[in-house]
Amino acid sequence: MAKKVNTGLEYNEEVINDRLSIYHTPSASGKNTFAEDIINGLKAKRKFILPKYFYDEKGSLLFEKICNTPEYYVTRTEASILKEYSDEIAECNADKRIIVELGSGSSIKTRYILNAFLRLDGNITYMPIDVSAIMIESSKRLLNEFEGLGIKGTIGEYLDALEIIEETVNEPKLIVFLGSSIGNFDLPHAEDFMKKISDCMKSGDTLLVGFDLVKDINVLNTAYNDNKGVTAEFNINLLHRINNELASRIDVSNFEHRAFFNAKESRIEMHLVSKCEQSFSLNGSGPISFKENETIHTENSYKFTGGMVMELIQKSGLTFVKKWNDANDWFGLFLIRK
Ligand code: AVI
Repeated sequence: MAKKVNTGLEYNEEVINDRLSIYHTPSASGKNTFAEDIINGLKAKRKFILPKYFYDEKGSLLFEKICNTPEYYVTRTEASILKEYSDEIAECNADKRIIVELGSGSSIKTRYILNAFLRLDGNITYMPIDVSAIMIESSKRLLNEFEGLGIKGTIGEYLDALEIIEETVNEPKLIVFLGSSIGNFDLPHAEDFMKKISDCMKSGDTLLVGFDLVKDINVLNTAYNDNKGVTAEFNINLLHRINNELASRIDVSNFEHRAFFNAKESRIEMHLVSKCEQSFSLNGSGPISFKENETIHTENSYKFTGGMVMELIQKSGLTFVKKWNDANDWFGLFLIRK
């Protein structure tokens, strides 16, 4: 039977066994469909596609492949920090038995954190949140690996899931948001998102966020232009996805990948560049025309200075506690509290 939180949001709880249950939130009612978002973006003066659309099944696999390229330092560097400092992170959060993770995916990096918390205390509850149902399988694997772990996952949007957690969990909690996914929001949206997370936190709750930091421009540009072209394939896959899901016939070979560091905005920008003048239509959208070299802006990935992170923390009404980083200071894990 559907349950309801104070704000009216409905959800269902699926109990899989005595250590694993999954909350399901209704899928995005009232929000635009894929077709509407794509057409709006491609008809805009400066064409864009929302980066959340990278992650269909193929795109998710390609992203995993990116994480294993030698050029994409982000995942490896963050994992090395977690490997080295998870015990310290757990000690700073010794009062917490609940760990919430936004965008858990296959939870690989989280294993370091779970291990450290379980070493301190034999029992914890892990609450992953993800839009993908892959979570059920990865949760079962985690339960096999870790005795003393209970999992209450949510399949749904982050903010819906946090509302449920805010109402159903009274014990102190740590929320983790890894991978510098915060960098894919524009700065005002990042601030807004942090404020919304803060609304779901009680005094003393903490938030651990991974921020990719500003560094040598060549390292940045290379990370998004890997030699094997995996990032290019990830970017181009957006067009294949449109063709598959909207039954359109965009000539994908007429576009190419472009990624560069925009120092003024402190972000990597990814674009799809039209190699020629062309025009197509989608789902009766009317003509969508491109000039030669016109681009579709597909992603921003902000690279933060310490000052930018502090400003974001302060503007969202939260308090900085501690930062952990690698020896090069390429990536920072920031512990923040309410
Ligand atoms: C998921 N996100 C943090 C990645 C990034 O680095 O912005 C996505 C990505 N785009 C190209 N490569 C990786």
